Amino acid sequence: MTYRIQKVSDKLEVPRSTIRYWEKEFPQLVNPKRTNGGQRRYSEQDIGNLHNIKNLLHHKNKTIDEARIVLKQGNTDVGKIDWQNQSILLTGGTGSFGKHFCKIMIEKYRPKVIRIYSRDELKQHEMRQQFGEEYIRYFIGDVRDSDRMRRAMEGVDIVVHAAALKQVPACEYNPLEAVKTNIHGAQNVIDAAIDVGVSKVIALSTDKAVNPVNLYGATKLCADKIIIQGNAYSGPRGTIFSCVRYGNVIGSRGSVIPLFTKQRKTGKITITDRRMTRFWLTLDQAVELVLDGFCHMQGGEIFVPKIPSMRIMDLAKAIAPECDIEIIGIRPGEKIHEALITEEEGRNTVDYNGIYVVMPNYSWWTRKNYKSGKKLPKGFTYTSDKNDKWLSVEDLKEVIYGPASMANDPDTKLATAIHHLNEKIILNLLNSEESIPEVNNQWIAS
Ligand SMILES: NC(=O)c1ccc[n+]([C@@H]2O[C@H](COP(=O)([O-])OP(=O)(O)OC[C@H]3O[C@@H](n4cnc5c(N)ncnc54)[C@H](OP(=O)(O)O)[C@@H]3O)[C@@H](O)[C@H]2O)c1
Repeated sequence: MTYRIQKVSDKLEVPRSTIRYWEKEFPQLVNPKRTNGGQRRYSEQDIGNLHNIKNLLHHKNKTIDEARIVLKQGNTDVGKIDWQNQSILLTGGTGSFGKHFCKIMIEKYRPKVIRIYSRDELKQHEMRQQFGEEYIRYFIGDVRDSDRMRRAMEGVDIVVHAAALKQVPACEYNPLEAVKTNIHGAQNVIDAAIDVGVSKVIALSTDKAVNPVNLYGATKLCADKIIIQGNAYSGPRGTIFSCVRYGNVIGSRGSVIPLFTKQRKTGKITITDRRMTRFWLTLDQAVELVLDGFCHMQGGEIFVPKIPSMRIMDLAKAIAPECDIEIIGIRPGEKIHEALITEEEGRNTVDYNGIYVVMPNYSWWTRKNYKSGKKLPKGFTYTSDKNDKWLSVEDLKEVIYGPASMANDPDTKLATAIHHLNEKIILNLLNSEESIPEVNNQWIAS
């Protein structure tokens, strides 16, 4: 989702000329897309950065130069990546994340090429029809196949590793298949990236990898650990590795919203446990987190976004207030609350540039970046039940029945309503003077 300059000016309560001036002074932080007619279109990331700039200049009385230092302090690699000259390999490129990543990259950053690496030719065929071949090449391959992986990575600058087996029951039922794809696959990514001289690799992690209670989570935890240790293997070769970790991407496939909506017709909805809470994240946030990670990474970090939580009972109230609720008990491999940062990790985590950065605890980690990162209080954990950002029943209602309630198509209705919800979140955050997470209209199942 992007915004016209007038909208941004209204949100930030500064004139349009000021926004244009800040854009000129902070080109690495504020970089709106242009329409064919040359009109500026600001992303949520741009708005978040503008908000931080305003805060420093107007509220903290910093000069432009001081603000530049504050916004970049302690980081040796902040800034724009010259995406137009980057060749990217994206494992799992035909998945939900992968497709959205390609959409944003093509619309906004126009990289030299994105190589999709996945197994199923049909999904690649469908993607080719959707995205064409101007920016994208399609490689059939399995992350378990190290030779193929090395060949596909030749000449690549940046790797995003998104391929995974991620259905909890499927991983439980086929444990060694999950090990082969999620763990051996990560090892093959590391080996190939080092061998062919890739500069940066980011792998996607999940909240299920935090104190895992199912095999999916356990394999992802293992993958995270070997990705982070990839930096030690890489040594003087220079390839650097980091992870991003996030929670449920909520929306269409298999998520709780369509389930409750369907159950509503029966007069009864099922809930596993009344106490359940979840983090909510949008695909836009996931993609921007990865892109931001590439700008900041030193190698070894786990980047964790600050995202709101919701209570399952609130969601039930929002969707089907008139329905009976049947409590069916927690399912195997399910948690009541999700965690994104454990207490042990919290000791090594900083609040930096609007996200949490979990730093590794190894001798090779120099901590040269993140010097400006804020330390977290003793005993800090980041769990969905202790979040300081919550979606109320009203917020959730807007997701389901919001201003788009006139739309006939339920998907359009949901997507449009989420646009409004996200705008509301941005405004709330603007008002509370906090960093703004990126938000979007596309919410899918975990
Ligand atoms: N969705 C969420 O809520 C969520 C939350 C947190 C973290 N994550 C993480 O985000 C990443 C992307 O998730 P997603 O939602 O985009 O998953 P997805 O929609 O299920 O897509 C998975 C992708 O991986 C590919 N793939 C699977 N096995 C492969 C293999 N052996 N070799 C090569 N490619 C393979 C699939 O294509 P083929 O089947 O054609 O090979 C597909 O392109 C995963 O690592 C997941 O753990 C997701």
